[in-house]
Amino acid sequence: TWTMVNIVEEQIEAIRAQIGDRGRAICGLSGGVDSAVAAAIVQRAIGDRLTCVYVDHGLMRKGETEQVERDFVAATGVDLKVVDAEKRFLDALAGVTDPEEKRKIIGREFIRVFEAAEAEILADGEEKVAFLVQGTLYPDVVESGGGAGTSNIKSHHNVGGLPEDLEFELVEPLRTLFKDEVRLVGEQLGLPAEIVWRHPFPGPGLGIRIIGEVTRERLDILREADAIAREELTRAGLDRDIWQFPVVLLADVRSVGVQGDHRTYGHPVVLRPVTSEDAMTADWARLPYDVLERISTRITNEVREVNRVTVDITSKPPGTIEWE
Ligand code: XMP
Repeated sequence: TWTMVNIVEEQIEAIRAQIGDRGRAICGLSGGVDSAVAAAIVQRAIGDRLTCVYVDHGLMRKGETEQVERDFVAATGVDLKVVDAEKRFLDALAGVTDPEEKRKIIGREFIRVFEAAEAEILADGEEKVAFLVQGTLYPDVVESGGGAGTSNIKSHHNVGGLPEDLEFELVEPLRTLFKDEVRLVGEQLGLPAEIVWRHPFPGPGLGIRIIGEVTRERLDILREADAIAREELTRAGLDRDIWQFPVVLLADVRSVGVQGDHRTYGHPVVLRPVTSEDAMTADWARLPYDVLERISTRITNEVREVNRVTVDITSKPPGTIEWE
């Protein structure tokens, strides 16, 4: 719409004015809509003087890394550096079952990998990297008590040859926008619908949707089950009625089943569709029985290791949206 065209044009001008010829910018992509839209706007403003970094931690859902690597790059022409860090994350998570411990490890590894990538970009470029692009939205600005648009943050580097801490100036093109406006801007910029309309997804990814230790094999099982659930939700036209639809693998639980004429001893998955306004409270979503039936039939037919599909009918509170 006209308004969205204006927002985009105004932001492009504002970013050109802010950055001028004072250096290059970097942006971390998460697969989510905010960082994608922020990066796309900055790319329009300064082109290849922006480098995006995508850390593939191996905990994404099926097809999401390809969406960033292929579809997002095709739509925006962004200069992207992908770091395949799956092995590193899985090694660090080996043997860990406690949810907060998982979060801590994933957060720590993420920062290390991101900073190493940043250091390589710094070493490559002739111009210095002085700007960090972030997808901060208006509600985040309000929550953190306002603050000026050019606040400096410190990023600590322990990578050989670089100063102890470098200062980046923040570039935050979405600071005045609400989530629904960000989606409209994303559409305006021609980003892939899967990114623009993606449900919220936690930073630790599928790592906190496997109850028990996170392994490559378990991730693959969950990715298949999750992909089926999402596909059927989309096919039923319900994506925009649902806030989030986690699928959780109870990896340490087994139950007896019968598939074909075999007795099986497989794992259950939990479907956790919820409706919500802001994730602070949530209600379990009353998905139509025929949609649930299709999901259940397909998962048990197509994912050999899963022989039981259950639905979580707990609201928040007392349950949280995620299981960990
Ligand atoms: P809960 O499970 O607390 O989740 O009801 C509320 C919202 O936060 C998301 N969530 C996270 N997001 N890192 C994130 O970036 C996390 O560790 C994390 N844990 C939960 C969750 O998906 C929901 O949208």
